[in-house]
Amino acid sequence: MLHTHAITNLRAVSRSTQEVGSKRALFGLYAPESVKEKCIIEELSIALMIVDTPIRTICCIGAGYVGGPTMAVIADRCPTIQVTVVDLNSERISAWNDQDLTKLPVYEPGLDAVVGRARSRNLHFTTEVDRAIAEADMVFLSVNTPTKTRGVGAGQASDLRWIEASARQVAAAASGHTIVVEKSTLPVRTAEAVKAILSAAQGDAGGRKTFSVLSNPEFLAEGTAIADLESPDRVLIGGEDADAIEALASVYGQWVPSDRILRTNLWSSELSKLTANAFLAQRISSINAIASLCEATGADVREVARAIGTDSRIGPKFLQAGPGYGGSCFQKDILNLVYLCRHYGLEEAANYWESVVTLNTWQQQRIARLVVNSLFGTVSGKRIAVLGFAFKADTNDTREAPAIRICRELIEEGAQLAIVDPKVGPAQITQDLQRPPLDPSQAPHHVPLGGEGTWIHSATPLEAAKGADAVLILTEWKAYCDLDWSAIHGVMRRPAWLFDARAVADQVAARAAGLNVWRVGEG
Ligand SMILES: NC(=O)c1ccc[n+]([C@@H]2O[C@H](COP(=O)([O-])OP(=O)(O)OC[C@H]3O[C@@H](n4cnc5c(N)ncnc54)[C@H](O)[C@@H]3O)[C@@H](O)[C@H]2O)c1
Repeated sequence: MLHTHAITNLRAVSRSTQEVGSKRALFGLYAPESVKEKCIIEELSIALMIVDTPIRTICCIGAGYVGGPTMAVIADRCPTIQVTVVDLNSERISAWNDQDLTKLPVYEPGLDAVVGRARSRNLHFTTEVDRAIAEADMVFLSVNTPTKTRGVGAGQASDLRWIEASARQVAAAASGHTIVVEKSTLPVRTAEAVKAILSAAQGDAGGRKTFSVLSNPEFLAEGTAIADLESPDRVLIGGEDADAIEALASVYGQWVPSDRILRTNLWSSELSKLTANAFLAQRISSINAIASLCEATGADVREVARAIGTDSRIGPKFLQAGPGYGGSCFQKDILNLVYLCRHYGLEEAANYWESVVTLNTWQQQRIARLVVNSLFGTVSGKRIAVLGFAFKADTNDTREAPAIRICRELIEEGAQLAIVDPKVGPAQITQDLQRPPLDPSQAPHHVPLGGEGTWIHSATPLEAAKGADAVLILTEWKAYCDLDWSAIHGVMRRPAWLFDARAVADQVAARAAGLNVWRVGEG
């Protein structure tokens, strides 16, 4: 039974804690006697959040999709901690400091409000990396770790040059005792290298600076980052130094229930992140493999997903067929796992995980070919409206977006694409497709046969559909669920097609308006 009086008191305690900024364990000092009863303490795990934290200053190196939102939430939930996010990229830092919160460099629902609350108080964005490190009790490394493009392990291993550079920078600029937290996703045993760099500096400084290294991988998903950070399924802290682990746990303990803060050794923590992403990506490849079989047999993948998802051993989540996973993490993290398995001589394990990536690439190629085949075997000179370019809804991130491979294949086949996305602009699409758009005012709806494939940017789905033979939905933006299909059909060339790779459109309305409809996973 929930003890409401106790909760009210504890909330008051919590507020006064934040106001006075005390470093002491406040629960025992201020909580009323009734609240101290063990049974109530057990009921109110929220009460245990009123914990002391020895951390006063945090620096985060890397103001990207992880560093920015994660630190914004820490600053929001821990008003007594000064949080400084640093980056080498001055444009990105200026965007984080923009007074207009719609111009933040990362789009996430709810992020603007969190940044708006904390930014002028205890959340800072700057390019002054060394100063922020020197002042910090705790430094998070949240830099990029993409797949290596050359040298040993090219195409699979993670490129750790940014991690090494930031560890060296911490080693040089830190003062006193600093807890260094790996927030980036890293191959298992990377902490060994980080520790080696830091202990060399520790030796040189003759004990004036000391370090502890922790692993604290981030499990947020783009598009739901703020909700994931504010109410995480779990927080994982791996390390060897119990005091450092508890110091970090006390930061999260300001808002995360204690039973959701898991402590492990360093290597389990590093490997758990790669494993989590590999399992999630595997579910997507599994359901997409079944989607193709559904299309061939007359089954419907959504019915199959519902039927298997009700099995408690499987569960309903992540069973949505689509154009394959994208984003900066799944592909690189599985490839990294494949590389690690091979490194340790585990060829079969490597092949097993590699097949998850192969299936994902195949799904994207399959969709591009299916569009071409349906449009009488050629898209040369035909306009195709592409709805959605981000790798998923509610983000402006296009890294590894399925749209990139699918659009490139269609352009290669000679199509003229009209691309629209609510949060991705023409500059980003130009970079991803590695070719500039045509000027829309000069782009004919149909280029001469044998013409070069190309693309234009459109402002709305209706504008993109003008003169198009097909509409292709590649991102599950909510706005695409209730499009006006009779208006769209009215501006298209006939016969008109809808290819719904996310199964989000109102297919009944689209068919009623006169379109031919293909939906992923429907036979
Ligand atoms: N994006 C996600 O959804 C997600 C989720 C969980 C974990 N991760 C992991 O988090 C890490 C960061 O990912 P991201 O998406 O935020 O990357 P990102 O590319 O958006 O951001 C990384 C930032 O680090 C900066 N940087 C690199 N080296 C630096 C240095 N020495 N000093 C200062 N700044 C430096 C870069 O300029 C860049 O702005 C990666 O390891 C990734 O795998 C990402």
